[in-house]
Amino acid sequence: MPQKSNVTRRRFMGGLATALGVATLNPFELAAQQRRAGAAAAPAAAKAPAVPYDSMAKLANNENPHGPSEAVRKAMTDVWKYSNRYGYPDGGIRQAIAEAHGVKPENVLISAGSGEILKLVDDVYLQSHKLVVGPEPTYQSVYQYTTNSKATAIRIPLNKDYTTDVNGIIKATKLHSRDVGLVYLCNPNNPTGNIVDKKEIAKLLNSIPEEIPVLIDEAYHHFVDNPNYEPSIKYVLEGRRVIVARTFSKIAALAGMRIGFAIAPADMIQEMSPFINSSSLNALVKYGALAALKDTAFEAKMKALNKELRSRTTSELAAYGYETIPSDANFFMVNIKTDMGPIQTKFADKGVLVGRRFPPMDQWLRISVGTDEEMKRFMTAFKEIFPAGKPTSSSAGA
Ligand SMILES: Cc1ncc(COP(=O)(O)O)c(C=O)c1O
Repeated sequence: MPQKSNVTRRRFMGGLATALGVATLNPFELAAQQRRAGAAAAPAAAKAPAVPYDSMAKLANNENPHGPSEAVRKAMTDVWKYSNRYGYPDGGIRQAIAEAHGVKPENVLISAGSGEILKLVDDVYLQSHKLVVGPEPTYQSVYQYTTNSKATAIRIPLNKDYTTDVNGIIKATKLHSRDVGLVYLCNPNNPTGNIVDKKEIAKLLNSIPEEIPVLIDEAYHHFVDNPNYEPSIKYVLEGRRVIVARTFSKIAALAGMRIGFAIAPADMIQEMSPFINSSSLNALVKYGALAALKDTAFEAKMKALNKELRSRTTSELAAYGYETIPSDANFFMVNIKTDMGPIQTKFADKGVLVGRRFPPMDQWLRISVGTDEEMKRFMTAFKEIFPAGKPTSSSAGA
């Protein structure tokens, strides 16, 4: 595997980190954090290609390591002919998404990744209502985008078993109901990978005032294999003020191409539409998404492969003495029994990019499920960083 020496890479990362005043982040993680924070393109992101990115095991951002299916690649390649046009036919992507999810086109809002939906809700629902209620830790975007509305996030800590504390979310929402503009749920939750039980979602919706919008982020929906899980589109069909956010970035492997969507009642789609940049999607990705919707065999294959590699790796970690949180997503958390501190950099030095710190879960490392080869490299690096027989805090300080 072509790879620059550790020393070279360390020097580059160290130099860049020093230049940016950030001691513990590698450039990819930094770029990813800035992306998650919705920050403008940063110097770190611009410089990333100078590092041997292609040769790293990329287990930091919950991507699909296998890339899009052949059908999707072909569909995208075939529409280069529209790259000079504004008024090209878009293949009926909105209609196709609606049909695939059993809703009407007026229930669908297409966006440049589901991240754009997480930003829109701030523009629309948090300008006059100053509170958003949701779990912590979770995917931070909704909370971070409140810099625009200057709303405050009421972050409800997870339960002791790391599941979402829905009772806590209900209590906080009811207590502040007049000021709550949005409730946020992530299902499965990122970074823990576990689901919110369907009964808990029903309880939430039956307990809080009906007029409060609830955003249910189902970015990892396609990986779930759990009888207690249920997608929340049914609540949209019931006319509840529920927005379901979905993405083609994960199972369809189009993270770098940018397409996601919201499914919501038509009046909510109308409320959000003026705030979206309708020209931010490119022709290629619309056709790629159309092909992905049809390629259910690829989706099933990715789901099965993810499950197999996730369970193999978590079993290996368990056998090695390390606990993981049961996950229904394409990532999982492992308890490293010591503070995250320099761990991310230690993995990067071994050519493995791992997840960032997710306070307050400072002793848990989030690992995305990569390819078979990447997961083997991860286990090798893990055992070197946490040598057998020393799976306590003393080993990690080394
Ligand atoms: C829970 C969750 N929601 C939304 C997103 C945004 O994904 P995208 O904007 O690529 O659709 C991510 C990305 O990692 C995520 O983890």
